Amino acid sequence: MLKDRNLIAPSDFSLEELDEVLSLAERIVQDPSAYAEACKGKILASLFYEPSTRTKFSFDAAMLRLGGSTLGFSDPNTSSTAKGETVADSARTVSQYADVIVVRHPKEGTAKLMSRYAECPVINAGDGGHHHPTQTLTDLLTMRHYKGGFDGLTVGVCGDLKFGRTIHSLVTCLARYQNVRFLFISPEELSMPAFVIEELRAKGVPFAETDDLEASISQLDVLYMSRVQRERFISEEEYLRLKDYFILTADKMALAKPDMIVMHPLPRVNEIATEVDKDPRAAYFAQVKFGMYVRMALIMKLLGIEEPQA
Ligand code: NCD
Repeated sequence: MLKDRNLIAPSDFSLEELDEVLSLAERIVQDPSAYAEACKGKILASLFYEPSTRTKFSFDAAMLRLGGSTLGFSDPNTSSTAKGETVADSARTVSQYADVIVVRHPKEGTAKLMSRYAECPVINAGDGGHHHPTQTLTDLLTMRHYKGGFDGLTVGVCGDLKFGRTIHSLVTCLARYQNVRFLFISPEELSMPAFVIEELRAKGVPFAETDDLEASISQLDVLYMSRVQRERFISEEEYLRLKDYFILTADKMALAKPDMIVMHPLPRVNEIATEVDKDPRAAYFAQVKFGMYVRMALIMKLLGIEEPQA
């Protein structure tokens, strides 16, 4: 049973709790049909105030595959938000109908705020440029699958480190494991924010910063690519100047270790050439599938659902 009934940032879960969720996800991957009725009669509400493909659909698919039902919106203009309802009142209301709420919002802190008013667990599916903890669960499950764990890994994180919430969640979470080292690869303008850097310094986690992907790729065990977050830029001109700063190509992959994996939370815009998709080291579409299984595990854990007997 999890101590915290909400998931707002990865730090809400202890390493033991993270392991519980990941291990359950691994058991679900082995035999998904055994869990087909685990959440029968339960309802998941997803409130998406920002666009989504994977996160929304993977939560819906996860709940449906557990035998539960879903409701929600992906366009806030079709909800009472358009009439001026506060997110606090929406949270209070929706929690009368649903057993768990998933929320994505452009404003940092919204999921946390909603969790104070909801009478059911709240899961943060992305709050502005802050955190995206369920993408981190997805990423950890993917790394466990390909790398057997996190010990001794050199993880390169490349692209928009300033606004990339998946990156903030992943790096602060991985920093809690032993013996992980980071290489932050970005243009100066998109470098890692202070709240992440300070956390790494406080924990004594080794990291370096560079703007040269080609020169650093050979050191990496994992390369985590990300898109430049257009919607969080104030200046369109600045976005256009930076958007194609890094493009991972087959030529660059030729410089990487034979067992390095490439991850990406998706959506991809232009930062990974499609020629890389057929490289066996490209893990980003497998990552999508892991995302659904780990969300099945998370929903079960947050709702306190017992594992079906074999
Ligand atoms: C990410 C997000 O929403 O932060 N998408 C996702 O959930 N996989 C990454 C992104 O939008 O770039």
